[in-house]
Amino acid sequence: MIIKKSREQIEGIRRAGRIVAEIIASMAEYVKPGITTAELQDVAKSVFEKYDAKSAFLGYRPGRNMPAYPAYVCISVNDEIVHGIPGNRRITSSDLVSVDVGVRYNGFVGDAAATYVMPDTSPNAKRLAWITYQALHRGISAAKDGGKVSDISAAVQNFVEGNGYSVVRDLVGHGVGIQLHEDPQVPNFVDYRNDAPLQTGMTIAIEPMVCEMDYRTITAADGWTVKTADGGLSAHFEHSIAIIGDRQDILTLLPDGREPYVPPEIL
Ligand code: MF3
Ligand code: CO
Repeated sequence: MIIKKSREQIEGIRRAGRIVAEIIASMAEYVKPGITTAELQDVAKSVFEKYDAKSAFLGYRPGRNMPAYPAYVCISVNDEIVHGIPGNRRITSSDLVSVDVGVRYNGFVGDAAATYVMPDTSPNAKRLAWITYQALHRGISAAKDGGKVSDISAAVQNFVEGNGYSVVRDLVGHGVGIQLHEDPQVPNFVDYRNDAPLQTGMTIAIEPMVCEMDYRTITAADGWTVKTADGGLSAHFEHSIAIIGDRQDILTLLPDGREPYVPPEIL
C-alpha cells in the first residue's frame, strides 16, 4: 500500500532527512585514510545523540527469520555494495567508502546514502562515483505526478549503462517516510511487472547501486554485507524525495539546502 503524505507529514520527513544529511556531511569530514569504519560510525552516533534521533537501521529485520541489523549505519567499502557492518576495517587512501544512513525522528523516517572518494582512488573509481551521483539526480528529475516508477528506473538505467556500468537488480529503492521501507519498490532497472503510478504526496527513496562490471551480488558470511560477485567496485547514492506535481522536493539535504556530499566532478 502506497502512503501519500500531507504537507505536514512531508515537513516531518524533512526534519528526519536533515539529520540524515548532517550525519552524511559529518562522516564526510572525518573519513580519512587510517580511520576504521567503527570510528566513522561513532561520528554518526554523536549526531544521532545530538538530536536524540534513532537509527532506522539498528535492529531492522528484513524478514521474519532474518538477523536484526546490528549497527547504526551501513558502511560498505570498494566491492561491498551496501549493508556493510562497521568494524575494525581501516580505510585506505584508495578506497571508495559508501555510507547509508536512516534516521527515525518524531515518527518520521529519512534515508540517504553517499559514496566518499578517497584521494588516491583510481580514475575509474572516481568516475564510477560521479556517474552514480549523477544517475541519482537523473532518477530524481524523472519522478513526476502522472508518471510511473519505470520513468525513474529508465532514467537511472539508461544513464548508467550508457556510461558503461551496470545497475544492481537484487536491491531496490522504496517508498519511505512513516516506515523505512514502504511501497512502491523503486528499481534501478526497468521492470514493467509492478510499475506503480507516481502521484503528488508520494515520498520515495531513490538509490542507484552501480557496479563497475557485472551487477550480480553475493552476501558475505556476516549475513548482511552485499558485495559484487566479480569483485568489481560499486558505488551508491540515495535521497528521500517528495513528488509535488512535476517537481521533486529532496528531503535529505542540509538545512541550508546543500548536498551533504558531492563526489569530485569528472569532466
Ligand atoms: N538504507 C537501506 C535501504 O534503503 C536500508 C539498510 S538495511 C538495514 O534499504 F538493515 F541496515 F536497515
Ligand atoms: Co533506502
